[in-house]
Amino acid sequence: MALLNPHYGELPGNYLFAEVADRVAAFAAKHPQSKLIRLGIGDVTSPLPPSVINALRKAVDEQGTEAGFRGYGPYNGYDFLREAIVRDCFHGLGISPEEIYVSDGAKGDLGNFQELFSLDCKVAVTDPVYPVYVDSNIMAGRGRGIIYLPCTAENDFVPELPPDNPQEKPDLIYLCYPNNPTGTVLDRRELKKWVDYALTQGAIILYDAAYEAYISSPDLPRSIYEIEGATEVAAEFRSYSKLAGFTGLRCGYVVLPRALRVAKESLGELWLRRQSTKYNGCPYIVQRAAEAVHSPAGKAETRALVEKYLGNARLVRAAFEGLGLTVYGGRDAPYIWVKLPQGMDSWSFFDRLLQEAQIVGTPGAGFGPSGEGYFRLTGFGDPALTAEAAARLKNFKGL
Ligand code: MLT
Repeated sequence: MALLNPHYGELPGNYLFAEVADRVAAFAAKHPQSKLIRLGIGDVTSPLPPSVINALRKAVDEQGTEAGFRGYGPYNGYDFLREAIVRDCFHGLGISPEEIYVSDGAKGDLGNFQELFSLDCKVAVTDPVYPVYVDSNIMAGRGRGIIYLPCTAENDFVPELPPDNPQEKPDLIYLCYPNNPTGTVLDRRELKKWVDYALTQGAIILYDAAYEAYISSPDLPRSIYEIEGATEVAAEFRSYSKLAGFTGLRCGYVVLPRALRVAKESLGELWLRRQSTKYNGCPYIVQRAAEAVHSPAGKAETRALVEKYLGNARLVRAAFEGLGLTVYGGRDAPYIWVKLPQGMDSWSFFDRLLQEAQIVGTPGAGFGPSGEGYFRLTGFGDPALTAEAAARLKNFKGL
């Protein structure tokens, strides 16, 4: 008789963004005339940059020729892309193309990477947290070993190192900077604290840098490998989704330096073993499109995209500040994290914003216990609709 994985029963009923989508669909069905503005899930709205489209077209044409056709590609990505990534993003950081593992995006990589580790590992997550880290560990059976590190206005959204207590000593540590959902950042000194902690404790850091392109302040670290010793303790996850509009096209990669080992085993070799068994690689045409992102024209075009979304984020910030609320993020990140008035819960605010202004956001409680009392919005909307949302907020009476 088939038995189900009991750990699925420990999950919340829906994935957060599926829950939000269901509630919005129910609202839209009841109010078909409403003009919804979606600033909930962090999905991009601008078309793909011209360099990406040109590269896609060229690669598609190649696929129709005897000489250019490609079947299965390398499990860890084509050399042309891995070399372009290292040249453009890791210059001077001691990372080589062999240490890059290309995939169809950071979400899958972040969800799957925990498979390399024992179920006995304890897992630390900053709280609030991107739900994929938590849900994937619950599915695997590590639900009871999750340690939440609160990040709230009270500690400036900077996670404290775990106490010196074996019950709360993590083996795997998920860090995401710029942070999803709070939009806050970690400076070099704070990031170094975590690298040093991992080095002394034998822990591994899963560093989610999906929003790295949004860092505007020159002194902030863009990669964890800017911190000495990080190649021994950190895997870095990157994505083309928010950098270049690939949420539908799908491409990302994980950096696994040779020095990154557990009990002398290379995590890169183990990951390749896992990927080659369960995954046949990101499509050739998509990898050519990703390569174009690193070309001079591609860099200029994607910079313009990021600036556009940061402009939206500034508008959203100002609109909520105009309501007298305290707002975080939105400067080096596409996410805006709003502190709700004392006592207002985030799902109630979600309903009020939807009903009164037809604006969709994401309730902070969906990101973990410390997210209650906060609300997330994104800068990824269409600029005209984002401006319309800001205008609607001027008359918002739901507070
Ligand atoms: C988000 O809204 O947090 C992200 O877009 C979700 C994702 O990347 O999976």
